[in-house]
Amino acid sequence: MLRTISGFDRIGEENAFAVLARATALSAHGKDIINLGIGQPDFKTPGHIVEAAIKALKDGHHGYTPATGLLAAREAVARRTLTTTGVEVSPENIIIVPGGKVTMFAAILIFGEPGAEILYPDPGFPIYRSMIEFTGAKPIPVPIREENGFAFSAEETLSLITPKTRLLILNSPANPTGGVTPKAEIENLVKGLEAHPHVAIMSDEIYDVMTYDGEEHCSLLTFPEIRDRLIVLNGWSKTWAMTGWRMGWSIWPDQLYDKVRKLAVNCWSCVNAPSQFAGIAAIDGPQDEVEKMCRAFDNRRKIVVDGLNSLPGISCATPKGAFYAFPNVKETGWPAKQLAAALLDEAGVALIGGPDFGILGEGYVRLSYANSEENILRAIERIEKFLAK
Ligand SMILES: Cc1ncc(COP(=O)(O)O)c(C=O)c1O
Repeated sequence: MLRTISGFDRIGEENAFAVLARATALSAHGKDIINLGIGQPDFKTPGHIVEAAIKALKDGHHGYTPATGLLAAREAVARRTLTTTGVEVSPENIIIVPGGKVTMFAAILIFGEPGAEILYPDPGFPIYRSMIEFTGAKPIPVPIREENGFAFSAEETLSLITPKTRLLILNSPANPTGGVTPKAEIENLVKGLEAHPHVAIMSDEIYDVMTYDGEEHCSLLTFPEIRDRLIVLNGWSKTWAMTGWRMGWSIWPDQLYDKVRKLAVNCWSCVNAPSQFAGIAAIDGPQDEVEKMCRAFDNRRKIVVDGLNSLPGISCATPKGAFYAFPNVKETGWPAKQLAAALLDEAGVALIGGPDFGILGEGYVRLSYANSEENILRAIERIEKFLAK
């Protein structure tokens, strides 16, 4: 028997990938599956971004770049950050990483070890908890409640901080709930955090452009009082429909930057060069396709919410951001994961059971509405027929 570290007894997974594999296998066997499971835009990467990568390859950009990313890419991220948040960030605090996930991996590795506590949203992106467990740190769930509009509560979050807390993970707009935490609540949280200078903060803002109904994304970057312990996770995957390119960025405070740089040198060396040129084109080029995509998500959101609320036993709060709906299915009488499995096998609709996002996800399922209006309507019809059986 080979002896590996105990972290692998605790590390988890992302069930969205398992559901995707099952849905793909069922499709391969001729079953008509509507996939509302995986969290990625159903749009193609805009053409000028693809062209920029092709040009970079033809121009001979085939080698390593600096581990932290091309200066031009980091400058582009700084320009974009100034446009979206009004905050000036130095390229010296920015790192280009192979996907948004890499930032959470790095941040949790930097702070997690036995004896440490890390706060994370529940329900929330499953990799937060998985990686916390991997490091041996104690995962402390911060409840994200439907009755609070799926926003995090400053008061509840602050009440969970102890002298052992090393890192607080925040996410707004949120996966899986679509919740957007209002600015006033973030202000309260930041005020409270001043009493806990030993706590670092990682704010996952990967859905920052996807807010609806006049809701505005409030970046944690806009609070100078926490900048020296704030990590901001963002990236290209969702905004420019680039999930397969594996392109993310993060902003780090001076005191942590060299740690993440060293992780890059030890692990991924750098992000592939042509993708970085594509990333620059994404930021500096026209944004009309991004706007078009967000408008499409907004329209589909209304269709999903209305459709779900017309079904017996299901009630769906209107999500204010991202591209997920997180309906409450408690009244159907089904445990959420069993409902998700039965809907895939019997109705041909792939979605994810809420418990895959945390203990408080029981009683909910996640639908990604990154799919056509026609497919969303067909999926609702199928769910209705299934529930009527
Ligand atoms: C909240 C959140 N953070 C980070 C990520 C990871 O993004 P990437 O595909 O760029 O690694 C996702 C992807 O689904 C996400 O939902």
